[in-house]
Amino acid sequence: MRVEEEKITTKNEQEYVLRSPEREDAEAVLAFRRDVAGETIYLTRYPYEIENSPEKEGEIIGNYLRAEHLIMIGIFDGDRVIGITSVSPVGLTFKTRHRASAEIVVRKEYWNLGLGAHLLDKAIRCAGDLGYERLELSVFADNARALRLYKNKGFVDCGQIPQAFKTMDGNYHDEIMMTKNLWRF
Ligand SMILES: CC(C)(COP(=O)(O)OP(=O)(O)OC[C@H]1O[C@@H](n2cnc3c(N)ncnc32)[C@H](O)[C@@H]1OP(=O)(O)O)[C@@H](O)C(=O)NCCC(=O)NCCS
Repeated sequence: MRVEEEKITTKNEQEYVLRSPEREDAEAVLAFRRDVAGETIYLTRYPYEIENSPEKEGEIIGNYLRAEHLIMIGIFDGDRVIGITSVSPVGLTFKTRHRASAEIVVRKEYWNLGLGAHLLDKAIRCAGDLGYERLELSVFADNARALRLYKNKGFVDCGQIPQAFKTMDGNYHDEIMMTKNLWRF
């Protein structure tokens, strides 16, 4: 689906644009993915594991725009991507297609300004509009900022996988699974 452009305001009164990335944003999205992979340990890929070409990234963006059940939302500072969330189904079978999972990332220089909250609010709204009944997230157990954001938005802890992630320094990190009911009463 395509999320139309809207203006959002951060905690420090800066205005940015929230919208779905278009195919022409492929280079900017790729640059974002590479940069953020090097800024935090809390993503599943290291920068060298981001292997997409701009053409491939453009195809992925096109799929997200076309498909009824996929959502990609960016926040833009001019042409620069500064945050992205995406929502995709956990499965396509009858028994699983009411569940979606979300990912969310913000550039480090823009952390703690409320951009994560804007992205997650929009992801929750759009997922509900698409008919999903539950939204799920997974997070490194020591990622306090993300846990705070998800709990603020009503996600609850529903399980933990020990040593789910192994970082290059040899350390292991548990994974916490979180879920939120999207029913509207
Ligand atoms: C997690 C992430 C998306 C949050 O984005 P953000 O724009 O900083 O989020 P927000 O500013 O909306 O909210 C952050 C919250 O964490 C709080 N916070 C900041 N540092 C914190 C800390 N060390 N411990 C606990 N909470 C903290 C902030 O105060 C804020 O809560 P509040 O609104 O109640 O004051 C961002 O930090 C990020 O991209 N991190 C790297 C990738 C990542 O971890 N993604 C999630 C993978 S599951």
